[in-house]
Amino acid sequence: MRKQIAAANWKMNLTLYQAETLVNDLLAAPIEISEHQELVFGVPFPYLIDIQKKTEGRERMLVAAQNCYSKVSGAYTGEVSVEMLKSIGVPYVIIGHSERREYCNETNAQLAEKVNVCFEYGLKPIFCCGEALAIREAGTQNSYVENQLKESLFHLTAESLTGFVIAYEPIWAIGTGKTATSEQAQEMHAHIRAVMAAQYSSELADSISILYGGSVKSTNAKELFGQPDVDGGLVGGSSLVATEFSAIVNSLKK
Ligand code: PGA
Repeated sequence: MRKQIAAANWKMNLTLYQAETLVNDLLAAPIEISEHQELVFGVPFPYLIDIQKKTEGRERMLVAAQNCYSKVSGAYTGEVSVEMLKSIGVPYVIIGHSERREYCNETNAQLAEKVNVCFEYGLKPIFCCGEALAIREAGTQNSYVENQLKESLFHLTAESLTGFVIAYEPIWAIGTGKTATSEQAQEMHAHIRAVMAAQYSSELADSISILYGGSVKSTNAKELFGQPDVDGGLVGGSSLVATEFSAIVNSLKK
C-alpha cells in the first residue's frame, strides 16, 4: 500500500508558545500512526528545529518546511535553501502551494527548479497543484492541473518520482469551508494518477501519494480519505486545533 499522509499546513499562524502547546496536545492525543502512514507538520521556518525535537523518537511523525528557494546558496537575502533545511534534518518541503503561486507569483517553471533542488539534496517535495474557481466553472480543471504537472514534473525520471507526494488543492476549497465533494476529489485524483501513468507507468503512478487539501475537517476526512485515489490530506485551518487534527490523522486509510 502506498503511503497515507496527514500533513498539517500551519501557514503563517501560531506563536512559538501556541505551536508548542498544539504539538504537546497532539502528542498526548490518542493518535495511531501505522506503518504505511505518516503525520507531517508543515511549520514556519523558525519552528522547524523545535518541533522536530519535540517529535523526536515518535515514529512516522515528521516535519516539513512550507517553502524553499530555487538556488542552493548565495546572495538571496531572506531566502531559505534546501541545503539549510537538509543540514537541520528536515525531510519534507511543501512546494508550489496556491498561496505562494498567487501572492509570490511562483510559476510552474520556478517550481520545477525548486523540485530539482529538493531532489539534489534528498528532500521530499509535497508538490501542490489545483485550479481556481473560474477554471472549475469553465470545466477545464483536468487540463489545467495536467499542465501544472507537465511543466513542473515531467522533466524528472520515473526513478526520482517513485513514492512522490502530490497535494491536489482546489483553490476554491481552501480556507473557504467549501470542501470538494468526495466524488470531485476522487475524480481529480484518478485523473492525476492517469496523467502520471500515461507519462511514466502505472507502477510509478500507483506509488505516488496524492493528498487532498481544501477545508478538510474531522467531519469530512473519513469520507474523503476513503476514496481509492485519495491518500490523505494537506490540512490548513483544522490542523491548528489538536482535537480536529488528531481525528483527521485517525481518519487515514488503515
Ligand atoms: P484549509 O487549507 O484546510 O484551511 O482549507 C488547506 C491548505 O491550504 O493547505
